Amino acid sequence: MRLKVITSNPGKVEEYRRSFSDLGIEMEHLRLPYDEVQTSDLSEVVSKGMDEIVSKGVRDFIVDDSGLFVDSLKGFPGVWSAYAQKTIGNKGILKLMEGVEDRGAEFRCCIGCDFAGERIIVTGVCRGVITCSEKGDGGFGFDPIFSEDGVRTFAEVPTAEKNETSHRGNAVRLLIEEMKRRGLVRGR
Ligand code: IMP
Repeated sequence: MRLKVITSNPGKVEEYRRSFSDLGIEMEHLRLPYDEVQTSDLSEVVSKGMDEIVSKGVRDFIVDDSGLFVDSLKGFPGVWSAYAQKTIGNKGILKLMEGVEDRGAEFRCCIGCDFAGERIIVTGVCRGVITCSEKGDGGFGFDPIFSEDGVRTFAEVPTAEKNETSHRGNAVRLLIEEMKRRGLVRGR
């Protein structure tokens, strides 16, 4: 069995490969640009993207979309996370939160999977806080300003440990659970 991972990020293909290897599913990287609709809902972005990909005749694939949602910024940067990261960056987010007491935030990762004619869309969440300064040299994106345990940022936590609680790790676990529930893959 094979699943195409449609992304411009080869790192994600590797993450999926690790998660799906036990299930006997091979992952194949496919670069296929698709429109990301303007909406504040990740699952809508994913669902519309899947419609477009299917209309191009591609089946058996995974797409995902993730972002950081900050409580006191009314969910910003959310679906605009990639753009915010490229423009204002982590320093810009910290600046917007200067003097703000409520540091609550969450990462969300929405995965859409088209497999054996079925469609599954799941969202994994990881709650935490925005720190007051950047810390750590690991990870990527918002990792240096996001702490799940309130002690270390994701940039200070080894990747394997991050995956145990991260939004993407949680979304992958939900996806595999649902694939098993529907009898699409075998396993306990
Ligand atoms: P994407 O949709 O997975 O490409 O994520 C959109 C943006 O959200 C990325 O450009 C990152 O800035 C940010 N992001 C997503 N996941 C993470 C993460 O695990 N750590 C830090 N930043 C993330």
